[in-house]
Amino acid sequence: MSIKETDERYVAHTYKRFDIAIVKGEGCLCYDDSGKEYIDMTSGIGVNAFGYSDPVWAQAVADQAKLLQHTSNLYYTAPCAELAEILCTRTGMKKVFFSNSGAEANECAVKVARKYAADHKGAEYYNIITLNKSFHGRTLTTLAATGQDAFHEKFTPLTEGFLYAEPNDVEGLEKLVKENKVAGILIETVQGEGGVNALTPDFVKAVERICHENDIVFMVDEVQTGNGRTGKLYSYMHFGVQPDVISTAKGLAAGLPMGATLMGDKVADVLSYGDHGSTFGGNPVCAAAAISVLSRMDDAFLAQVAEKGAYIRSRIEEAGYAVSGLGLMIGITTKKPVSEVLSACMEKGVLCLSAKEKLRLLPPLNIPTEQLEKAVDVIIEALK
Ligand SMILES: Cc1ncc(COP(=O)(O)O)c(C=O)c1O
Repeated sequence: MSIKETDERYVAHTYKRFDIAIVKGEGCLCYDDSGKEYIDMTSGIGVNAFGYSDPVWAQAVADQAKLLQHTSNLYYTAPCAELAEILCTRTGMKKVFFSNSGAEANECAVKVARKYAADHKGAEYYNIITLNKSFHGRTLTTLAATGQDAFHEKFTPLTEGFLYAEPNDVEGLEKLVKENKVAGILIETVQGEGGVNALTPDFVKAVERICHENDIVFMVDEVQTGNGRTGKLYSYMHFGVQPDVISTAKGLAAGLPMGATLMGDKVADVLSYGDHGSTFGGNPVCAAAAISVLSRMDDAFLAQVAEKGAYIRSRIEEAGYAVSGLGLMIGITTKKPVSEVLSACMEKGVLCLSAKEKLRLLPPLNIPTEQLEKAVDVIIEALK
């Protein structure tokens, strides 16, 4: 049987796959089982920050795998401790809980907000406000956090206590906070799955203000926007705010499963023994990968991410299409169905994504200029 036939027979049909099987990759190029080469403008949906099989990343992973691949969270390990220190130093946060995915990172954020509220205001302050069109994960709690009805259907009852505000509507948010007992507000500064929609700076600042005024936990979901994707290490850094909780995953270990929930001053000591846990959380190999990733994301590297994003934006806008997003998280409003654009790009050897009705680009952050230019040429042709 072909890869496709075996997959179709044995793997649950939760993904609508494109009709190619990727067998290997190097840098920003990958190859299907017929040997066809593609420039990857997807990074495995914002994961492979340094592309495929990056030698520095692979060395860090291999070295750690040979030394200690796993132990339990009953013991200290150097990569876990070191990574937490790096994350805190670079964000001003105070404590980290490690998990394995974005959904788990958000699950932890929700637990932190609820426990903070229970400790300080009473257990009835359990509501979490998220935004319409948000996406926060697929567990029953993070589905409830996801402000899109289509994801909820057939899975009810979801975790109770989620309310949805309209993005960029400060008055609406204030009203929700006034009328309900609220533990936390969770936002993506750029809604990824929801269509690459950046929130306005005024709204992000207002969320922070409202949280401070009402002693509510201010949480930013940096699962897709984090780890250099937008041209800053974390996207909230564009907005001059300091969240109480940051959740992240995807690009953190650049291809190995790792989630992290970072807790600031206000909530640093909310979680105590037994409150939360994860067998694989803080796994030494994943942590070693993340240390390697973050150590390469200095100011010069992040500036290049911003430059590459600006290059794509200007080329696409010049060609007559509207662009949304930040850094190398880009949404393009197409004039024909996005599925047609995706197919045309794929045929010409460029892999892209969609987000709602937009074309979405999440290329590896270190994509070489020549490949970037070539990919943008193909995309512009495909958009026509
Ligand atoms: C903003 C955001 N939060 C959470 C998630 C869920 O992450 P995961 O699939 O790793 O659970 C995603 C995934 O796309 C995301 O984009």
